[in-house]
Amino acid sequence: MFPKLLNQFSQDMETVLANILPEPTGPQKKIMQAMHYALLGGGKRLRPFLMVEAAKLFAPLDKGVWLAASALECVHVYSLIHDDLPCMDDDDLRRGKPSLHKAYDEAMAVLAGDALLSLAFEIMAKDEIHDDPNIRLDLISSLAHASGTHGMIGGQVIDIYADKNVYDESLITQLQALKTGALIRYALVSGAKLGGGNDQDIENLSKYAQALGLAFQIRDDILDIEGDSEKMGKKTQKDESHGKATFISHYGLEKAKSKAHELGKQAKAAISTYGQKADVLSECVDFVLNRQK
Ligand code: IPE
Ligand code: IPE
Ligand code: MG
Ligand code: MG
Ligand code: MG
Repeated sequence: MFPKLLNQFSQDMETVLANILPEPTGPQKKIMQAMHYALLGGGKRLRPFLMVEAAKLFAPLDKGVWLAASALECVHVYSLIHDDLPCMDDDDLRRGKPSLHKAYDEAMAVLAGDALLSLAFEIMAKDEIHDDPNIRLDLISSLAHASGTHGMIGGQVIDIYADKNVYDESLITQLQALKTGALIRYALVSGAKLGGGNDQDIENLSKYAQALGLAFQIRDDILDIEGDSEKMGKKTQKDESHGKATFISHYGLEKAKSKAHELGKQAKAAISTYGQKADVLSECVDFVLNRQK
């Protein structure tokens, strides 16, 4: 049931994403083509899905949420393009295709990532996102925060310079909360804001997101060891040889699995107050814990 729902969502999101991209034209059309290559045709679309589901808890859906969700996916895809670069994780497979720097070149990968980030903010500033300009401004500013040095970028920096012999649990938690958690939290909190949730709702979804985001990254790290590269569309068995500090390098596989399970329970508890209305978000926890890609 849940995989079907997510699959339908990603088909619908594909149309929105195709519409926000600039048409490849002019002497710079190569960059637009590179953006199409990276953004379209792959990925679970989990972050936009979470944003839309969070908004749906509080209000009937409107077009602005889908647009905001597409902007968030642009930021995520930019992070993946740069994450795969030779100077970062040096991965040549992403979403079942050659990574962008392999399909094009490194310059195009750097620039397409930058262009997707810029596009995200251009979209987030549009009137259609929300009638209230204060909400738009809040979404723009918190997207900058979640992507920047106190968010995703900060996490990537801690990840790159991680010495797994020195890193302790609290530093690994901080690494994962920033690298992966910040954009996932943004998805849920922004969804609540767009749907008209109150401060308590934002707090509830933030708690859900923090537990879910951590569980999501632990599952990513488990899949790096146990996963099937073909199913996942990216290389596996890379973290250990790259000396990555993860919950698995710290605790071992079994304890990391039980930690993810525990986080799953915390995530569900954070949204229990919404009852059946939050069934989809609750099922999403099980999906994240058991996903194979
Ligand atoms: C991969 O994210 C990068 C991490 C933060 C672990 P996803 O597993 O959501 O990747 P896609 O979007 O489905 O390709
Ligand atoms: C990537 O984490 C997180 C971001 C892109 C911000 P990983 O390096 O573990 O992601 P994968 O395994 O390459 O997808
Ligand atoms: Mg990485
Ligand atoms: Mg990587
Ligand atoms: Mg990984």
